[in-house]
Amino acid sequence: MTDAQPISRRRLIATASVTACALPLAACAGTSSDTAKPSGSAPGSNPPKSSGAAKGHALADVSDIPVGSSVSGKTADGKPVLISQPKAGTVVAFSAICTHMGCTVAPAGKELHCPCHGSVYDAATGKVLHGPAPRPLPPIPVKVAGKQVVQKDA
Ligand code: FES
Repeated sequence: MTDAQPISRRRLIATASVTACALPLAACAGTSSDTAKPSGSAPGSNPPKSSGAAKGHALADVSDIPVGSSVSGKTADGKPVLISQPKAGTVVAFSAICTHMGCTVAPAGKELHCPCHGSVYDAATGKVLHGPAPRPLPPIPVKVAGKQVVQKDA
């Protein structure tokens, strides 16, 4: 008749600790929070492009943009952007979202072309050269940092 063993005091305390820590996870995390950091934020880690890297989101390498033309890229939040180099060392960037109906505008030499309804923009200014787009492409603030074009507000 002594089949059921009474739970030991040690086991009871251990079970209570596990249960208590299962509720407020952060309070019981202990040293595990140190291992939850993203790998990119570890001290001494390098950004994806280490040559000429600067603070902010790198949109392109300056050397990848032909002078008098432009290339496509993505903003820090993943939106399409066009980066132009009208003169050597001078870079500008514009949203690549057409102001007509929102298609993605593409580089075309000194111009930017919308494939949907034929709008044409000036790659150096974002100005509409040919409609139906009603407004210029919105500028995106950028700067040259080292060898890269960096989005200023990212
Ligand atoms: Fe670009 Fe219509 S969406 S021209």
